[in-house]
Amino acid sequence: MSTPDFIIAPSILSANFAKLGEEVANVVAAGADWIHFDVMDNHYVPNLTIGPLVCEAIRPCTSAPIDVHLMVKPVDRIIPDFVKAGANIITFHPEASEHIDRSLSLIRDGGCQAGLVFNPATPLAHLDYVLDKLDLVLLMSVNPGFGGQKFIPGTLDKARLARAKLDAYERESGRRIRLEIDGGVNTGNIAEIARAGVDAFVAGSAVYGTGRESDPHRYDTIIADLRRELAQVGKA
Ligand code: DX5
Ligand code: ZN
Repeated sequence: MSTPDFIIAPSILSANFAKLGEEVANVVAAGADWIHFDVMDNHYVPNLTIGPLVCEAIRPCTSAPIDVHLMVKPVDRIIPDFVKAGANIITFHPEASEHIDRSLSLIRDGGCQAGLVFNPATPLAHLDYVLDKLDLVLLMSVNPGFGGQKFIPGTLDKARLARAKLDAYERESGRRIRLEIDGGVNTGNIAEIARAGVDAFVAGSAVYGTGRESDPHRYDTIIADLRRELAQVGKA
């Protein structure tokens, strides 16, 4: 197997919101590939975070792709707002959309990459008829709603299963779909997760810390450590 290019996507959920623009720029300067942007509505998940206005506000702070993770229900009303706000990738949970195929088309017609997000207990069956409309698949390795939770180990088997489905699709279509993971990722488990077939890693508290410390030096160190762990994968 050739070494896949790995994406590190810090989640700004754990950043210092009083300095969000700096936090975004600093983490990208430290080597982050994407900015993961968690949108929660206190309805689909029991927490409330940020919306399109904040996405628009941070857009000029970086040229890195903004990876918008919608934890909202319904999803269709808000998708065009994120397209306008400068999102590059938009993902949503299949349970939150009445018409999954339509929601995916809304995202792609807006010029963004589209993805489906699977909660820990959500089966992968929702992939079956929409692979041609997906650019990435996001597996939740915690229940959505909060940063700083513990990685659910059963997600590794699910990642292997998802990777096999995506590889089979790539063989027949020539198109590679990314497999991203979200929740509890850290330097201690990232290599094992990569070995299960994941190639994009969201990390919130591991990168930004849990106390909203806002320490750019920490970002250099932690992202280098995550990459060092990933560098071992593929050589095994
Ligand atoms: C949880 C969010 C995650 C969260 C990850 O619902 O989707 O993106 O910020 O945080 P950590 O990496 O701390 O588990
Ligand atoms: Zn997320």
